Amino acid sequence: MKRELALEFARVTEAAALAAHKWVGRGKKESADQAGVDAMRTMLNRLAIDGEIVIGEGEIDEAPMLYIGEKVGQIYNEEEKDSVTYVDPVDIAVDPVEGTRMTAQGQPNAITVLAVGKKGSFLKAPDMYMEKLIVGPEAKGKIDLSKPLEDNIHAVAKALKKELKDLMIVILDKPRHKELIKDLQAMGVKVYALPDGDVAGSILTCMIDSDVDMLYGIGGAPEGVISAAVIRALGGDMQARLKLRSEVKGASLENDKISKFEKLRCEEQGLKVGEILKLEDLAKDDEIIFSATGITGGDLLEGVKRKGNIARTQTLVVRGLSKTVRYINSIHNLDFKDEKITHLVK
Ligand code: FBP
Repeated sequence: MKRELALEFARVTEAAALAAHKWVGRGKKESADQAGVDAMRTMLNRLAIDGEIVIGEGEIDEAPMLYIGEKVGQIYNEEEKDSVTYVDPVDIAVDPVEGTRMTAQGQPNAITVLAVGKKGSFLKAPDMYMEKLIVGPEAKGKIDLSKPLEDNIHAVAKALKKELKDLMIVILDKPRHKELIKDLQAMGVKVYALPDGDVAGSILTCMIDSDVDMLYGIGGAPEGVISAAVIRALGGDMQARLKLRSEVKGASLENDKISKFEKLRCEEQGLKVGEILKLEDLAKDDEIIFSATGITGGDLLEGVKRKGNIARTQTLVVRGLSKTVRYINSIHNLDFKDEKITHLVK
């Protein structure tokens, strides 16, 4: 993949964040998501890539855009395809609004995010739940999901030369984790209970300016693959297990019918529910580009700030090959965006 693509992908998540930001605090999750999707798709279709969405908004029949299997890039863009001289064949994992509820309710930590890799780089995870255990580079090689969580916590504390009382674990603040959060606190570790957004939570385990040492818990499998991509790029570690909705206590859509469908999707992909997936199974290559832009301000990124038609964005871009982490602060004059994107972001 051409190195310059890193900046191009940053432009994609910037546009999606600007578009989603228009819906911050308006109580409309779907509209926020649609705005992010539209902007992301428009921008992806301008890039010199032969891209395929492998983690996206859902199947073609349930998602009109950025569905799994959708092809993106200039060569698929009627207006631009004749001018194309070179394309990078890539797989793309997207979450145009990671934290739709946070966006709709004007709460922190909503981001727009994508990961790109060579063909075959990402596990094609069905839209189901995933149990995730994630740590930063210093604890790489020390986690093992086949062992009890308590053992993993002790192993990570040892690797980080920390006492349990100083260890911080991030976990989604969902009913299914209520008991676990209490148990962890009783064990003496600090719990950062995040209302939503475990991609941002995962990244915090690898950032030098964050207090988070580990992420544990059940979240979305597509988000898990995106997390794996960036964790690999940052040199951290992850293990995971696919979970059926019917196995997850207090799941919002506890439903046997859905679980039958989930099982079927796993079989189609050659995946086994409950089998331990290592980082290299989830993100299979080092040559990954990851980009995330803040929609609302949070622990990882600043959110979009706007004064009239001048907007500021903050984007995190990671290149897996070099492991370089870049923060890109951009000031956008929305009056000067071209017409294809203006109506989405202004
Ligand atoms: P959205 O992109 O759907 O808003 O996801 C937010 C999120 O919190 C993810 O970070 C997480 O993986 C997933 O939802 C957890 O699912 P659930 O909301 O069913 O607990």
